[in-house]
Amino acid sequence: MYICYVTLWKFMVFFLSPSVDATNPGNNLYVTGLSTRVTSADVEKFFNKECKVLECHLVTDPRSRESRGFAFVTMETVEDAERCIKYLNRSVLEGRLVTVEKFLGIY
Ligand SMILES: *[C@@H]1O[C@H](CO)[C@@H](O)[C@H](O)[C@H]1NC(C)=O
Repeated sequence: MYICYVTLWKFMVFFLSPSVDATNPGNNLYVTGLSTRVTSADVEKFFNKECKVLECHLVTDPRSRESRGFAFVTMETVEDAERCIKYLNRSVLEGRLVTVEKFLGIY
């Protein structure tokens, strides 16, 4: 169920978001393990410590607006994205261990 939801999101982000640049893959990150208290601004701030964030999209429930605990973050460059993975994967945000991975989707 959870996997299905994630897959659906990958398709939605790919088809609906003009900010996901298919010609420049490698600078999109996929963040999981977020506390539901964490906001999009928190995620952006957390990432901006290490690298330049272009855009941050926290996935929320459309009805309750509660966080689903994962987010897509687009970095300025592939180098920024790689630095973020290196420094922020398995680091702690709001008491939760977060995982940062490259979001390759269906590119
Ligand atoms: C991030 O951490 C997870 C969990 O330990 C690990 O499986 C994964 O390989 C790491 N990802 C990267 C891109 O280093």
